[in-house]
Amino acid sequence: MTRVAVIGAGPSGMAQLRAFQSARSKGAEIPEIVCFEKTADWGGLWNYTWRTGLDENGEPVHCSMYRYLWSNGPKECLEFADYTFDEHFGQGIGSYPPRAVLWDYIKGRVEKADVRGWVRFETPVRMVGFDEATRRFTVTAHDLRADRVYSEEFDYVVVASGHFSTPHVPFFPGLDGFNGRVLHAHDFRDALEFKDKDVLLIGRSYSAEDIGSQCWKYGARSITTSYRSKPMGFRFPDNWKEVPLLERVENRTAYFIDGTSREVDAIILCTGYKHHLPFLPDELRLKTDNRLWPLGLYQGVAWEANPRLFYLGMQDQFYTFNMFDAQAWWARDVILGRIALPSAEDMRRDSLAWREREEKLETAEQRIWFQGDYVARLIEATDYPRFDIEGVNRTFMEWEHHKMADIMGFRDHAYRSLMTGKMSPLHHTPWKDALDDSLAAYLGRRSSDGDSGARHG
Ligand SMILES: Cc1cc2nc3c(=O)[nH]c(=O)nc-3n(C[C@H](O)[C@H](O)[C@H](O)COP(=O)(O)OP(=O)(O)OC[C@H]3O[C@@H](n4cnc5c(N)ncnc54)[C@H](O)[C@@H]3O)c2cc1C
Ligand SMILES: NC(=O)c1ccc[n+]([C@@H]2O[C@H](COP(=O)([O-])OP(=O)(O)OC[C@H]3O[C@@H](n4cnc5c(N)ncnc54)[C@H](OP(=O)(O)O)[C@@H]3O)[C@@H](O)[C@H]2O)c1
Repeated sequence: MTRVAVIGAGPSGMAQLRAFQSARSKGAEIPEIVCFEKTADWGGLWNYTWRTGLDENGEPVHCSMYRYLWSNGPKECLEFADYTFDEHFGQGIGSYPPRAVLWDYIKGRVEKADVRGWVRFETPVRMVGFDEATRRFTVTAHDLRADRVYSEEFDYVVVASGHFSTPHVPFFPGLDGFNGRVLHAHDFRDALEFKDKDVLLIGRSYSAEDIGSQCWKYGARSITTSYRSKPMGFRFPDNWKEVPLLERVENRTAYFIDGTSREVDAIILCTGYKHHLPFLPDELRLKTDNRLWPLGLYQGVAWEANPRLFYLGMQDQFYTFNMFDAQAWWARDVILGRIALPSAEDMRRDSLAWREREEKLETAEQRIWFQGDYVARLIEATDYPRFDIEGVNRTFMEWEHHKMADIMGFRDHAYRSLMTGKMSPLHHTPWKDALDDSLAAYLGRRSSDGDSGARHG
């Protein structure tokens, strides 16, 4: 029987499981699917842990999420086309749910699909090799519960191990002598740690913006964000300043390249992540920075040098859950023989054309339309339910405008579902006053009503 290994049970890996289960539910014969997951539960980054550094098994902690994290984009832009928020929660909910609510939602679909039995938890993949003679992969994994390393053969491998977990940590002179706390965004957990403190964040992207916002919301005395390329340009509260790049640190004083300085208690490096795929040999390993069109992947998914290997979710992301779905359905259909791949040369040419277009993108709006076009291209080729991608793009545009108008208030808006056509309700509490990020608090239920909002599973 054909065997498929899926590496990782985060949103991308879960999409792959659902894609195969969906085909089976429509009568298709599907291969045997084995999903290897390093941690004890599914959900990837959405599966929060208080731990930092190494986990309970001595593995690097995968989670980069933190307490009080709320979606940074409208949920209407990431909604699954085959499993709506309405179906899951049985009630309308606001447009920017906290982490626990989104985790509940993504689990609901795969619980309903009943595919948990396909996942081997606490089993990190250590190595993948390909035998040119047999055309099969050997996957070596470590069953941490039994403390047993073993190898099995597969016809296809889908890499869905994420790329926002291995921090990129630049050095600034004096950091090693700083008399305060220095950490990377990956290790940030509870903003209350920085209450009444002067916090410096390095970076100008989503982590800097959101961790700064968390610290502000939970009572930091001041926020300073230091940028390398250009300021974020939002209208921040009075105690939040944007400054050029950090030059050096002496004791508790941070000096910036414009000659200014300030005393700070903590420095949080919001300097991004590395694509880190240590279990893959050179000839199979994607090597890229965080961008919309990594090279080497036909349709952003199939490894051109050996298209029995697939990668999901390796792009920088405006679109998330429904893009992972589009990719997973497409990879599934290549594996099922429903989609034929062109020659290696044609695949390369096609990818280069996307890359050329990507390099010309100048604004966030253009980048969103680019990724929307990409998702549309994938969906055209499969039976993934059609949805209004232009409508999603337009919702992203509204989101951008709401952020520019009020960076601490943009989460108080609501948008229309592109799947059901229904308008989402405004959340019961403004984001800046909502200090309890639990599922129960968000749904407006008592915590004794249970931890899961799902109607399924
Ligand atoms: C701080 C932060 C906040 C974010 N917030 C949002 C948001 O608000 N909205 C949004 O849409 N997106 C958000 N994202 C984007 C995020 O990338 C996606 O939502 C999504 O989690 C990506 O799914 P994934 O499955 O590709 O990767 P991940 O979620 O990273 O999951 C990868 C899985 O693979 C497993 N794994 C890794 N290595 C191995 C191995 N060797 N063997 C076996 N298993 C392995 C991991 O344990 C993990 O379960 C955020 C990202 C970060 C870092
Ligand atoms: N609430 C949420 O939902 C939430 C919160 C946080 C993160 N996220 C998600 O997490 C993902 C990663 O976001 P991210 O912000 O961590 O990474 P990112 O988007 O890749 O941005 C990395 C940042 O680091 C800066 N940087 C890198 N090296 C630097 C150096 N040597 N000196 C100074 N600055 C440097 C970059 O600056 P330049 O731009 O100048 O190059 C950039 O601003 C995104 O998908 C985002 O959506 C979501």
